[in-house]
Amino acid sequence: MTRSPATCRPADVPDGETVVPVHAVRPEGLDAIRAGLTEVQSAFAEANGFAAEPGQIVMLPGETGKVAGVLLGCGPADADHDREIRMGHLASRLTGGHYRLASAPSDWTDRLAAIGWGLGTYRFTRYLKETPDVPVLVLDGDLDARAVRDAVEATALGRDLINTPAGDMGPEALHAAAQDLADAHGATLSAVIGTELLDRNYPMIHAVGRAAHEDPRLVELEWGDPDHPRLAVVGKGITFDTGGVNMKGASGARLMKKDMGGAAHALALSAMIMAARLPIRLHCLLAIAENAVSANAYRPGDILPSRAGLSVEIDNTDAEGRLVLGDALAKATESDPVLMIDFATLTGAARVALGPQLPPFFTNRPHLHDPVSRHCLGERDPVWPMPLWQPYHSMLRSPIADMKNSGGSFAGAVTAALFLEKFADDRPWMHFDVYGWNPTVRPGHPKGADIYAVRGLFAWLASGGLNTPMEQPDTR
Ligand code: BES
Ligand code: MN
Ligand code: ZN
Repeated sequence: MTRSPATCRPADVPDGETVVPVHAVRPEGLDAIRAGLTEVQSAFAEANGFAAEPGQIVMLPGETGKVAGVLLGCGPADADHDREIRMGHLASRLTGGHYRLASAPSDWTDRLAAIGWGLGTYRFTRYLKETPDVPVLVLDGDLDARAVRDAVEATALGRDLINTPAGDMGPEALHAAAQDLADAHGATLSAVIGTELLDRNYPMIHAVGRAAHEDPRLVELEWGDPDHPRLAVVGKGITFDTGGVNMKGASGARLMKKDMGGAAHALALSAMIMAARLPIRLHCLLAIAENAVSANAYRPGDILPSRAGLSVEIDNTDAEGRLVLGDALAKATESDPVLMIDFATLTGAARVALGPQLPPFFTNRPHLHDPVSRHCLGERDPVWPMPLWQPYHSMLRSPIADMKNSGGSFAGAVTAALFLEKFADDRPWMHFDVYGWNPTVRPGHPKGADIYAVRGLFAWLASGGLNTPMEQPDTR
């Protein structure tokens, strides 16, 4: 979907169009801002009770009564987690017009403020007859407008894919979206589809997806200079999760169009890497299937072979994501990547643990917890480290197979990650259990589909993250 950009250069402002100054203010900076306003504006702000509380917005009148400025309250610095992303709150309230950030709290960077703005302008318009105008933020000359736009567009791409209902975002449509992205960046796309999955040894992807109307598939995108360090980015692409024979109830199924959220995240991160032409050899793998119910559906108690050679007893057909990812991760290891990163809407338990805002992540190289967390927080895109607690592997024990696919009710996000770890073959690997959805509107995060951790990971990769020694001693 093409959408109009939320930011532009001064030279792109149409002649005669006014650019409205925005003042993002903390209570401690309020007096200084008001001193710079006209007497009428200052009185107007006071009369409207503007105290720079988080989320307060006052449109200031000019002499003709038209809007001549905007005050955006940000609250005190020590209580502010949204920071620059708060600009998205303002952007989401405006339709059209041109704005510039005239003053901001001293702890803000202009780049993140512009990204926050762009994230807040997002709307899912595919099924709407009328689409509202996007307000445009005019960027200072020295700001990297490309970087801002790439981050905003990658997030919008991921959100669009997740928001699109399963009826229009089945395996074929998700495959086509990956093809579009590959075409846009000169990447190579290949796919293994349907029964070919059996011939080419992806038995778990096939088993999960074989009952659906559209064929399951492994889609692979390759991009970049083969001499650069190789990064595998893997995504869970369950285009709808009914739960299979262990079927979900009404409330459990309601949002399961988002179960391809991991693939959307993988494509968003790939988009940013390719747009910035990072010195990385990118291998993006999407494990795509619809977890449907039919006469040929896989069953509880079935024992599946897997690409990695482990046999898996199906304890629960609703623990399908780890199966398709297991085969995709095994494939990723075969190209000898420096690092593998996977994204998946893998467990409800991750949400019970950390809620919808904070994706837990796991890695078999725990010395990466700290640099990755720091970069994500720095981009206002927080994640939280979780343990691959090895003793819990016993919960996945099967008496008749190498493993079973569900570990019961304790530590569900941990046992799911431990399951995946078996397919990473001890190579450097990170796993993000994302929710892919924002249940209530927050600054820069409209209600509905959302992308997490991607901007933060991109920042870590752009800073040379793949050059980190990956073989630190494991101190768990
Ligand atoms: N796609 C779901 C996980 C999910 C559910 C993510 C709700 C976000 C919100 C996944 O396939 C699933 O059903 N997981 C089960 C695993 C269980 C059967 C071991 C879960 O989390 O309940
Ligand atoms: Mn499931
Ligand atoms: Zn699922």
